[in-house]
Amino acid sequence: MRVLISGARGQVGHELLRLAPEGFSVQGLGSAELDIADAGQVARVVAELQPQLIINAAAYTAVDKAESEPERAWAVNRDGVAHLAVEAERLGIPVLHISTDYVFAGDAQTPYRETDATGPTGVYGASKLGGEVMLAANCSRHIVLRTSWVFGSHGNNFVKTMLRLGREREELGVVADQQGCPTSAASIARALWALARQFREQGALPWGIYHFSGTPACTWHQFATEIFRQAVEQGLLERAPRVRAIATSEYPTPATRPAWSVLDCGKLRETCSIEQTDWRHELGLVLAELGNAPGR
Ligand SMILES: NC(=O)c1ccc[n+]([C@@H]2O[C@H](COP(=O)([O-])OP(=O)(O)OC[C@H]3O[C@@H](n4cnc5c(N)ncnc54)[C@H](OP(=O)(O)O)[C@@H]3O)[C@@H](O)[C@H]2O)c1
Repeated sequence: MRVLISGARGQVGHELLRLAPEGFSVQGLGSAELDIADAGQVARVVAELQPQLIINAAAYTAVDKAESEPERAWAVNRDGVAHLAVEAERLGIPVLHISTDYVFAGDAQTPYRETDATGPTGVYGASKLGGEVMLAANCSRHIVLRTSWVFGSHGNNFVKTMLRLGREREELGVVADQQGCPTSAASIARALWALARQFREQGALPWGIYHFSGTPACTWHQFATEIFRQAVEQGLLERAPRVRAIATSEYPTPATRPAWSVLDCGKLRETCSIEQTDWRHELGLVLAELGNAPGR
């Protein structure tokens, strides 16, 4: 099966290429080869490659910067998804797409289900929700996989920021009043490939929106503390810095962050037999990989 992966140089895109199962002929394109915001280019590339499935890992992910350049965020996250959706529908093929917990307001107290009301508080979340709407409107066979707090060995993320700060500082303050679910990029790639395999075997999928994240839920402060614990254990840091619990109000950012980002992943488990992974185990694998990286 021929699979086109857009955004192939990002955290999740990188893992999708690395973890591609046997029997899939994968064409992974970065933004330089396929700019999804460019409708003409999307049409040309899709017509040329004739994929049988598209996995979209491309997105404008700079949450704070999106507040000052909303046009770019909308162009990629909404319009770019629409372009892929239109071309997929023209070929009669499905799109597997990744979305975010930021489509929600983040003021709930129980894990968000797929049927809960959305209410993004910033440009990034609103533009990602726009992408979900465009996909549903233009491509009859699609999956939206909403995820959260993505980390991996490739690209920029919270784990790598903490490791850098841990080397530079004796103490750091980390937000302790936001709850969420760290999710490894590799686990997202595995979930997407599991869906792709089901599609290849059965010719269809239970189309729609699904939640997928790591487990258990934690705060950024707890996540940081576990990063440092494992980094010391694995020899990436000589010693852990003191991690001071701070409030969101002490760390102001241009975009509001959801206080509650916990996703209920039951629908994906019950419908497609795809289980959540323990992010602490995934973290260990990512740290081991970073520890083995040349020039560390
Ligand atoms: N990171 C998170 O914590 C998080 C949380 C929840 C959901 N998600 C979602 O998960 C998905 C994957 O995110 P990620 O963490 O892998 O993000 P990432 O590392 O920032 O990767 C996104 C990729 O998209 C590419 N891209 C940007 N604009 C593009 C365009 N116009 N055309 C084609 N490619 C473009 C980027 O390439 P350039 O660098 O060359 O621009 C980048 O390689 C996204 O849908 C994101 O919204 C992420």
